[in-house]
Amino acid sequence: MEPSEKYLFKHKGSYFVQSLATPEYIDSLRDFEIRDSDVFIISYPKSGTMWTQHILSMIYHEGHRNGTESMDLLDRAPWLEYKIRNMDFASRPSPRLFTTHMHHQFVPKGLSNGKNKIIYVMRNPKDVLVSFYHYSKVSVQLEEVRDFDTFMERFLAGKMLGDLWLDHVEGWLAQKDNFNILFLTYEEMKKDLRSSILKICNFLGKSLNENLVDDIIAKASFDKMRADPRTNAENLPSDMLDHSKGRFLRKGTIGDWKNTMTVAQSERFDSVFKERMEKLPFKFCWDI
Ligand code: A3P
Repeated sequence: MEPSEKYLFKHKGSYFVQSLATPEYIDSLRDFEIRDSDVFIISYPKSGTMWTQHILSMIYHEGHRNGTESMDLLDRAPWLEYKIRNMDFASRPSPRLFTTHMHHQFVPKGLSNGKNKIIYVMRNPKDVLVSFYHYSKVSVQLEEVRDFDTFMERFLAGKMLGDLWLDHVEGWLAQKDNFNILFLTYEEMKKDLRSSILKICNFLGKSLNENLVDDIIAKASFDKMRADPRTNAENLPSDMLDHSKGRFLRKGTIGDWKNTMTVAQSERFDSVFKERMEKLPFKFCWDI
């Protein structure tokens, strides 16, 4: 079943959100002017993108002591391919943070100059699938597919925003020598956030004192983020999210897929994904 054109359009083999972009805008991003200090967060949807946006913006603003605390995540690390709030990217002060779900062939050409940085965050695809399934009910911009089996078949066929998870992850992993990328997993962040933060700081060449790291860990906890409208997407307008149907930060755990997928569905998933996943240089953690 093809995704409804009411929600997504296909451009050069990839799906984009109908209400937030146009093919011309996507093409124009190839020539988007990049600064050496720019940092990009790149991910497949539902992999922990907002969590990473929050952490990065805190690292750059040293625990939020310079006023960014009052801003929505959307304004702190804006989406490149979505025209939201008509932001003027060119007038943003350096270092600029950006976020994108795009494959490497769509990102600005200048990103591969080796000076600017990319943090690619990924998550085990069964949790991604289940998180995506629930999110599609909350998001007004994505088609709601009530039947999980149908949603899973679309995911396995890559007929959704982000396209095929395997293509996205394999594609970016294969670009490791062409861009300056740190690969992070949701699961490692979940298991040891301190180490992940230090890893990010090391990659960015930032050194934060212990108190600041502690502060970031506390502010990046699931409960803290969920309680804050600015980090739980609650300030997004009702034509983007239907807040009555659920919250952006839903469960925030590893292995929640087991609560939605049956054994048969999990086996069906494995039959399509397992072979290619075994060749990935990462072993994903499926539960704890
Ligand atoms: P769940 O739906 O499994 O809860 P993205 O930002 O890429 O769309 O990812 C959303 C997922 O990341 C959601 O997963 C959300 O709850 C989870 N997440 C966001 N912030 C988190 C945090 N601080 N700790 C753990 N998980 C978090």
